[in-house]
Amino acid sequence: MKVLVIGSGGREHALAWKLAQSGKVTEIFIAPGNAGTAQIGQNVDIAADDVLALLEFAKTNNIDLTVGGSEAAITRGIADTFKQQGLLIFAPSKAASEIESSKIFAKNLMKKYDIPCAKSQSFDEYQRAKAYLQEQSLPIVVKADGLAAGKGVVVAQTMAEAQKALADMMVNSIFGTAGHKVLIEECLSGPEMSFFAFVDGNQVVPLASACDYKRIFDNNQGPNTGGMGSYSPPIFITEELKDYILKQIVQPVAEALVNEKCPYQGMLYTGLMITPDGPKVLEFNARFGDPETQVLLPLLDSDLFDIFYAIARGMFKDTAITVSDDACVGVVMAAKGYPSNPQKGQIIHGIEEVDYDVNVFHAGTKNCSGRFITNGGRVLIVCARGRNLEEARTKVYENIAKISFDGAHYRKDIAFFANNKKENENNG
Ligand code: AMP
Ligand code: GLY
Repeated sequence: MKVLVIGSGGREHALAWKLAQSGKVTEIFIAPGNAGTAQIGQNVDIAADDVLALLEFAKTNNIDLTVGGSEAAITRGIADTFKQQGLLIFAPSKAASEIESSKIFAKNLMKKYDIPCAKSQSFDEYQRAKAYLQEQSLPIVVKADGLAAGKGVVVAQTMAEAQKALADMMVNSIFGTAGHKVLIEECLSGPEMSFFAFVDGNQVVPLASACDYKRIFDNNQGPNTGGMGSYSPPIFITEELKDYILKQIVQPVAEALVNEKCPYQGMLYTGLMITPDGPKVLEFNARFGDPETQVLLPLLDSDLFDIFYAIARGMFKDTAITVSDDACVGVVMAAKGYPSNPQKGQIIHGIEEVDYDVNVFHAGTKNCSGRFITNGGRVLIVCARGRNLEEARTKVYENIAKISFDGAHYRKDIAFFANNKKENENNG
C-alpha cells in the first residue's frame, strides 16, 4: 500500500514512523515533510493546505490511503474532495470538522446533546457582546469562533483585558473573520488533559489520554507556544475518569454528529478540564494533537495503517486496538528566539547518540549536505517510553542531553510533579 501523510511537524514524523511499521505499507510519501520524515519515506514538495495539488499527486501516484495531519487541509474539506474523486483518506469531512473550526458549532452541539462544558453565550454583534461582558464576573473567557492558530482564547483576569480581547477580535479583526463571532464563556478550573479517540460514525475506540505543556519556560512561565512537551497517561487519570469521558462525552458527541447528518470519521481530539464538578469540554480538534501524538503512538501496539484504512472505508467496526500501559514522555527542543523569532540554520549534533529505543521526532529540521540543520521554532521532540512516568522521564532527559545545537533550549519539568503542584493543576 502506498500512503501519503500530509504535514511537516513532529506529529507527521510520528505518524509516518508508526505507519512504516505496518507490514502492509510499502511506500510512504510526506507532503511537505521534514528531514526526519525523509528518512522514513519520500518528501513531496507540496504545502499541507494545497488540497488540489495533493489530490493531483495522490491520483498520479496511485496513493492507496492519504492521512490528514494538520487542520489546514482538513477544515478546507480535503476529505470531501478526495472522496468525491474516489480516493481513500483518513480525515473527517468539512462539515464534521466544524467541531474544530467553529467553537460556536461545537458549543451548540454540546448544549443540544447535554455534553458537559462551560456555560457560554455566542455573539456576532460587538455592542451586544460588550454589554453582556460588562455584567459578567471575573475571570472570564473570550473565544474567537474560528481558527486563530491557537491564539483565539483569552482567559481575562480583568474587565479591561476582556474588553480589549473582544474589541481586538470583533472590531480590529486581529484574527480576520475568525474573530467576528465570539463566545463569552465562564472560567473553569482544574487539571487539563486531552482524550484521543478513533471515530467512525457511531464507532468510538479510545487511543489514550495525554497532557501537553504550552508555555515556553519551566513552571508554566512565559508566552504560549505550539507545545513544549507532553506525556501520557495523565498523572491524575483513573479508570473511572476514562470511562466517564468516553461514555458521557466522546461517544455522545460521535452519535450527535451522526444525528446531525455529519458523521465523523477520523481522530477526534477532546480537550478537557477536570473541574470540581467533573470533566468539561474545552475544545475539540478534528485531528491528532501535536506534540501529544509523539507520545501516544509509541504506546500503540496495533497496526496504525489497519485502523486508518478501516475508518477511511467506513469499516472500523471490528478493528481491535491494543495500547500498552507503559508511559511515554516527550520533550521539545526549541530554537533560540522561539516562539517570537526563532533562529534557523544551526547544525544539530548528537541525534545518532540517543538510545535505540528513544524516538527523536523532527519538526523544524532540514537536511543540508547530509547534516541536520534547524529550520523552525520547535526543532525536535525526544520521546521515551518507560514502565511508568518516572522511568520514561528519566530516560528522556538522559537522552535529550546528548543532542545539541546553538541556542537550543527545552523545559526541564515535563512530567515532573514532585515540586511542581501547579503543573498538576493546570498544564497551561
Ligand atoms: P482552547 O483552544 O479552547 O482549548 O483554549 C486554550 C486554552 O485556554 C485551554 O487549554 C485552557 O487552558 C484555556 N481555556 C479555554 N477555555 C477555558 C475556560 N472555559 N475556562 C478556563 N480556561 C479555559
Ligand atoms: N497540542 C495541542 C494541539 O495539537 O492542538
